[in-house]
Amino acid sequence: MKIGILNGPNLNLLGQREPGLYGAQSFEDFLVQLRKDFSDIEIDYFQSNEEGELVSALHRMADSCKGIILNPAAFTHTSLALADAAKGVEIPIIEVHISNVYRRESFRHKSYISPAALGVISGLGLKGYHLALEALIEL
Ligand code: DQA
Repeated sequence: MKIGILNGPNLNLLGQREPGLYGAQSFEDFLVQLRKDFSDIEIDYFQSNEEGELVSALHRMADSCKGIILNPAAFTHTSLALADAAKGVEIPIIEVHISNVYRRESFRHKSYISPAALGVISGLGLKGYHLALEALIEL
């Protein structure tokens, strides 16, 4: 079974970027552990800082994966294109945020993606991806 993980802008900086908020581990290091923990699952990982690339990656993953874990980062709060893409595909999407967006600025309380998501995990750090993967496997 293949599951996609799609990360939005600035998440390539995890580990260096505001570590108090996002933690000290890079996503690449976390991914090594995640792949070990879920060795039966093929994980297709893609990160981009470009909105159009994320839309195209979501379309591609929808064709080849059983589910998608999507952290759209700042595009969560702005992107109609990504929201339309998420609504337009059939496969389950779990929206993950490392930080608890509801404890932060009010502009982060609005997600254009959530109406298209099966579920949302926010504020549990990188553990959120782990939990989302467990949930998608159970589904
Ligand atoms: C984020 C939360 C967003 O508001 C922010 O723009 C990010 C990361 C998170 O994972 O907590 O870049 O999606």
